[in-house]
Amino acid sequence: MSQDIPAGLVEALRKAEAVVVLTGSGISADSGVPTFRGAGGLWQGHHPEELATPRAFHRDPAQVWGFYDWRRTLLAGCAPNDGHRALVRLEQLVPEFTLLTQNVDGLHQAAGSRDVVELHGNIWRVRCTGGCRGEHEDRRAPLPPPLPPRCTCKSLLRPAVVWFGEALSRDVFERAEQASLIADVFLAIGTSGAVEPAASLARLARSTGAIVAEINPDGSLLSAMARYIVNDTAARALPRLVAALESPA
Ligand code: OAD
Repeated sequence: MSQDIPAGLVEALRKAEAVVVLTGSGISADSGVPTFRGAGGLWQGHHPEELATPRAFHRDPAQVWGFYDWRRTLLAGCAPNDGHRALVRLEQLVPEFTLLTQNVDGLHQAAGSRDVVELHGNIWRVRCTGGCRGEHEDRRAPLPPPLPPRCTCKSLLRPAVVWFGEALSRDVFERAEQASLIADVFLAIGTSGAVEPAASLARLARSTGAIVAEINPDGSLLSAMARYIVNDTAARALPRLVAALESPA
């Protein structure tokens, strides 16, 4: 299904001083990355608590690492799509732009977005769970056996992502809140809005007067608060949105 970009949304973006974009796994779907919920989603047939919680890691770190190693290997073959690329352009077209993402795949950065606020961390980084607490990038996929990988200090390494039951990094979330508080337009793209506190950022922006808009081929929990909805994929809708913004008013 394809749908025109609402003129009101283009107008709002033209006038906006500050724009916040919140992305979810849907923006990476056209790159071949599975989403979490719904048909074919990563959580279908799985309980997140069996794979993405501190408890699961404590119980069976090899199993949890098996899941992350599989995702990393899949991601290693994925490239940014037209949706990611259009956001790089959008950043250049508005005075103040903040890109918040729930994705851990690093595809926004690969497309060229700078200063991405990664609410849930990054799957290409690993963190020591022992005394040294060191964190570093490791892009090997698959990881060389044995799993789970260990730090030079011999403690277990874990993916530097946020698991269910864990708090988001305070600095990261404060930045996201500050940006949402002053946003004139808050654009939610490819997210179900099912996970807190990320979804609360849309409510926060709305409560201080932002125009909330959504790009998603289906409805989401954020649809009810959106003034503008584009029911299409991010890879199709975002280039059209940017083209409309760049064309003479
Ligand atoms: P979900 O799987 O919950 O939602 C994906 C959304 O993307 C749905 O609303 C789809 O309709 C939409 N979608 C699918 N294909 C799309 C496309 N081509 N273009 C645009 N939208 C599309 O994923 P998230 O909302 O990202 O957290 O999930 C949020 C968090 O839940 C994730 O960060 C992860 C997960 O559990 C943690 O692991 C902590």
